[in-house]
Amino acid sequence: MPPALPLVVVADPIDPAAVRTLAAGPCRVVEPTDEIELGTHLAEAWGLIVRSRTKVTAELIARAPHLSVVARAGVGVDSVDLPAATARGVRVVNAPTAATASVAELSVGLYLILARNLYERIRATKAGQWKRSENGGELEGKTVGFVGYGRIAREIARRLQPFGVRALGYDPFLSRAVDTTELVAFDALLAGSDFVSLHAALTPENHHLIDAARLAKMRRGAYLVNVARGPLVDEEALLAAIDSGHLAGAALDVFESEPPTRTRLLEHPKVVVTPHLGASTHEGQRRAGQQVVDEVLRALRGEPLQSLVNPEAGAPR
Ligand code: MLT
Repeated sequence: MPPALPLVVVADPIDPAAVRTLAAGPCRVVEPTDEIELGTHLAEAWGLIVRSRTKVTAELIARAPHLSVVARAGVGVDSVDLPAATARGVRVVNAPTAATASVAELSVGLYLILARNLYERIRATKAGQWKRSENGGELEGKTVGFVGYGRIAREIARRLQPFGVRALGYDPFLSRAVDTTELVAFDALLAGSDFVSLHAALTPENHHLIDAARLAKMRRGAYLVNVARGPLVDEEALLAAIDSGHLAGAALDVFESEPPTRTRLLEHPKVVVTPHLGASTHEGQRRAGQQVVDEVLRALRGEPLQSLVNPEAGAPR
């Protein structure tokens, strides 16, 4: 009997066309429908593809002795225990560019919704009210401050140029400007922005990056927008800042726990909420599926990986 082909477990739903491409490669593919089924495949898994549902913990990695590559169909890899993967020599890859346009477009939409108070006015109109009084302001002439000035923030800044918006950026990993966005210190960005927009990765150091002290440093009447990761923001402190009138409102696509449980935040008239859908467009999901499948196929063929996030994992096994 020839040796069995490596097993790739697609643990969370990804684009079906990408799964078909993978299945035509030198591997077997399974798509478990629940955790019990996932558990039975881990013992044999060589590759594991996840989106957000499956958390790749140290315990999960320990149950997969043959695991060689984990692919996250998204940008963030905070749902993967990177130290545990690296210690076991498991390579972790992601889909770094898949969601850029989708998240950038959502962000611009959220700034507009906040600026014009559209959330409240849409609700009121649907409830039969006809409120045509002055309501909100324009984006033109306002300042948007990006906390984390990577790929997504740069694409938002590019999209905002025709709006006549001034862009500030804070990024501890950037030493010089990459475009017309002015790089400033964190406090200067908080004090100088009408919209503070979060685009940082979630790391242990970034937990509650936006806490009561930083919210207090924001401009009175400013807005906070978070399309990155929920735990970057102390939600209780955010509610207090809005209730006190210091902030005009917030738009959140991500939450400290998901699905969110903080009802006061969900029901707050000045908080626009969406269900972590920044990357969830047809185009974004097609690209995410294709990018991770291409990476897994490269790994299967022994080719260099293009989105390896833990090169310290060492040579393939
Ligand atoms: C990301 O990290 O790109 C997103 O969380 C992806 C997703 O929504 O699955």
